[in-house]
Amino acid sequence: MSKQRDQWSSSLGFILAAAGSAVGLGNLWKFPYITWENHGGGFVLVYLVCIAVIGMPIMMAEILIGRRAQASPVPALEKMSKGLPGGKWWSVVGWMGVIAGLVILSFYAVVAGWSISSFINCINWSLNGFDGGQDFGGFVGNGPLQVGLAFVFSTVTAFIVMGGISGGIEKATKVLMPVLLGILVLLVLNSFTLDGASQALAFLFTPSAINSHGLLEALGHSFFTLSLGMGAMITYGSYMGRHDSIVKSSIAIVLLDTLIAIMACIIMFSILFTFPQVRDSMGKSTAGMLFVTLPQMFYTGMPAGKIFAPIFYVLVGFAALSSTISLLEVVVSLLVDKLEWTRIKSTSVAASTIFVFSTFCALSNGAVDFFSGLKPFGQATEGFLFKLNETFFANKAGFMNLFDHMASNWFLPVGGMLITLFVGWILPSRISAEELDLLDENGNPNKFFQVLLFSLRFLAPLAIGYIIMMVILGRDFS
Ligand code: PFF
Repeated sequence: MSKQRDQWSSSLGFILAAAGSAVGLGNLWKFPYITWENHGGGFVLVYLVCIAVIGMPIMMAEILIGRRAQASPVPALEKMSKGLPGGKWWSVVGWMGVIAGLVILSFYAVVAGWSISSFINCINWSLNGFDGGQDFGGFVGNGPLQVGLAFVFSTVTAFIVMGGISGGIEKATKVLMPVLLGILVLLVLNSFTLDGASQALAFLFTPSAINSHGLLEALGHSFFTLSLGMGAMITYGSYMGRHDSIVKSSIAIVLLDTLIAIMACIIMFSILFTFPQVRDSMGKSTAGMLFVTLPQMFYTGMPAGKIFAPIFYVLVGFAALSSTISLLEVVVSLLVDKLEWTRIKSTSVAASTIFVFSTFCALSNGAVDFFSGLKPFGQATEGFLFKLNETFFANKAGFMNLFDHMASNWFLPVGGMLITLFVGWILPSRISAEELDLLDENGNPNKFFQVLLFSLRFLAPLAIGYIIMMVILGRDFS
């Protein structure tokens, strides 16, 4: 393998980059929506438990694989599984991660591109007056515009990744994350001036009833939001210094991700409770909430909305960018490690290949019939092929919907399951405990490690098994 491996220059650099990966559209777009759908408090509580009991141990498991092997997911799992049951077969986890990175980045770049357009619209509305908002269907159906926006976003992502770990990704996230946090604090403070703020807080923090649907949704979302199950944390962990603490860093990353998701809810729900008319007309889509409902509220009801609206979309764009960087890095690190290509060549090849798929996604929301109506097993309305479409893709159509579906329902849970089984049952616990620095004075795994191991061996596999079973039975997590 190649020369000296690039490293994060500090433990904070790693935490900010990894938190940047975790904090993204999932926090600003998906979490508030599913919390709203699942009636607030009870759901938030269950979500916090899922994140602490399942998400955090898997995050530690991923980071420890990467740091120990000092390699990207495929070679990392090859190295770590040497001589162990299953052997090289475990590297399938790495390959699945690379495919998942490609799939997620393809559609994520399209949605991320919407933040650029919303930002430009808001600047225009702030200067020239609000004209009632944009026709969302017309916007997403505009092929050239969609492809152009995704192109801009993908290019910025590629340039940062080309800069390397300490010189590109770390430098960028050291700017993006503090700005993002600053904007969020500003927006949260502003929401406290709205009449609906106290109702929003009560909605979020008063326990409410939750059903099995909510429980599953909380579990499923914890993978996407923490960037787990596809090797992103293995990749970032592989650039971590020997002396940095994986346990402390993971706790910091999880806390930041959760805090930001809750802050996003406070911002959105304060607005929703202040403007009941918008609340009732909120569409059935999360995209509707973020890109249509919010601008309307910023401009029609909020005195300082003119200022906050463009700033809000800077926040969305920055959050998305720190995530797209990590998605691309998963693919790039494989090319650098396995084929020993230069970073510039690896990034150019990976980014342009993924952009081809982004184009298909960008054209699949009404712009081109073929992409918008595409079903993997054809258009049959009954019979075997129809059953396949139904079982694997919930009978969805359209490139972007299908990619989103595949990632959240199949790749992340299955990848997460394999990682938890590998670290829980296959990798000798002494190695994990040593890497996590969780040994007692006699050199044996300490109590905290035993608790982690219990989750990795039993709780996480059971929970993920439940998700996978429900997906097979027709549940949808995308
Ligand atoms: N965690 C990101 C979000 O919540 O938007 C999505 C994501 C990024 C998933 C990077 C996976 C990943 F590797």
